[in-house]
This record gives sequence, C-alpha cells and structure tokens, in this order.
Amino acid sequence: MKVKEAISKRRAYRSLDPVDISDDLIQDLAEKIQITPSCANKQPWNFIFIRDMDVLTKLFTTLTSGNKWVEKASMIVAVFSKPKNDCVIKERLYYLFDTGMATAFMILRATELGLVAHPIAGFNEEQAKIILSIPEEMRLITLVIIGKHSNEINPVLSDAMKLGEKQRPPRKQIEDFIFINRYENKLKKK
Ligand SMILES: Cc1cc2nc3c(=O)[nH]c(=O)nc-3n(C[C@H](O)[C@H](O)[C@H](O)COP(=O)(O)O)c2cc1C
Repeated sequence: MKVKEAISKRRAYRSLDPVDISDDLIQDLAEKIQITPSCANKQPWNFIFIRDMDVLTKLFTTLTSGNKWVEKASMIVAVFSKPKNDCVIKERLYYLFDTGMATAFMILRATELGLVAHPIAGFNEEQAKIILSIPEEMRLITLVIIGKHSNEINPVLSDAMKLGEKQRPPRKQIEDFIFINRYENKLKKK
C-alpha cells in the first residue's frame, strides 16, 4: 500500500470484529515505532501492547460511557511518556509531538495490514495507569484500539457514531488551516 492510500484508508471505525494478535504483528508495529524521528533522537515514547483478556477487561472499566464500543477490542495499545523524556525548548515540550508521530506511524502501518487502529482519549487516566502499572509521573496520552472493521454496525453506537461508520466526519476547509508564506495568506481555493 502506498503511504497516501494508508492515510486515506485510515478511519476511526467503532464497529469491530475480533482479530488474531500475533507476536509478529506486535514486532512489526514496534519496529515502525522504533524508527520514528524525535527531537535530538530522544525517543520519548513507551507503548504497552495489551492482548490479555483479563487486563483488557480491567481497562474497559476505565472507559467513558461513550466508549462502550471499545469492549470489542482485540488489543489495546497504551501510549505514555513524560515531558522530561524529550526536548524542552523554552515552553516548547516535544514529548507529546514525538510520541504522537510514533503513534501515527503505528496507526498507518496497522491500516496497511487491514486493521482498525483507533486512538481514544475517553478513559480515566489515573485508573488505567494503576491497572497497567504505569508510574505516576507519566502521562497516559492515548489508548489505541485495535480490531478488524465489522460490516455489522455495533448497536451500542450513538446515531452520530453510526453515521461515522459510513462516512468520514466533516473536516475544516483547507483554506482555514493552510497558509502560504505568512499566516495572513490563506491557500487559494482550487
Ligand atoms: C486524540 C484523539 C482522541 C480521540 N478520542 C476518542 C474517543 O474517546 N472516543 C471515540 O469514539 N473516538 C475518539 N477519537 C476519534 C475521533 O473522534 C475521530 O478520529 C474523528 O472523529 C475523525 O474521524 P476519522 O478518524 O474516522 O476521520 C479520538 C481521536 C483522537 C486523535
């Protein structure tokens, strides 16, 4: 798959079927994370690949009410780091940026492998950190939900989420966030 295809195919689907999580899959994703660029090559990220049903079931108790669909996950990838793991240049903290890039690379590779890889923020960070033995000073940035996209829409989804299974949620116009040469010069509409 070409990079542009993986970027276009990636979707935050919420109707999931089970998928086998092999050691090879974890190794494959880990290798893509490993070669992600980072500020001064600090590699600030930590990832826990959770496929043990007992641990998954405990994590499900930390989800917000809108995230019931996550209970169909075959694997959850917990992504965490702390500011001191990466460059801090004046007030520019790079740990979230670099860890986000590594997460995006992992998500694109999972997409290429035909998987859904859906990052979420809707969970109780403190509870999830205790379950996963993540130290207090770390920020649990996201949980990435891994599964296979189901043709059957998950009945726990809200109407908006059901619509989201069929079509990508609307985006801002490109002119609203892309500028040429200076902030005041919006990219002209095609
Ligand atoms: C940081 C982050 C947090 C998110 N948190 C949630 C979440 O808690 N629950 C959920 O259902 N989707 C969550 N999403 C998915 C977004 O809602 C989704 O990416 C967005 O609606 C665009 O849809 P698309 O990714 O299919 O294009 C999150 C996405 C990101 C990047």
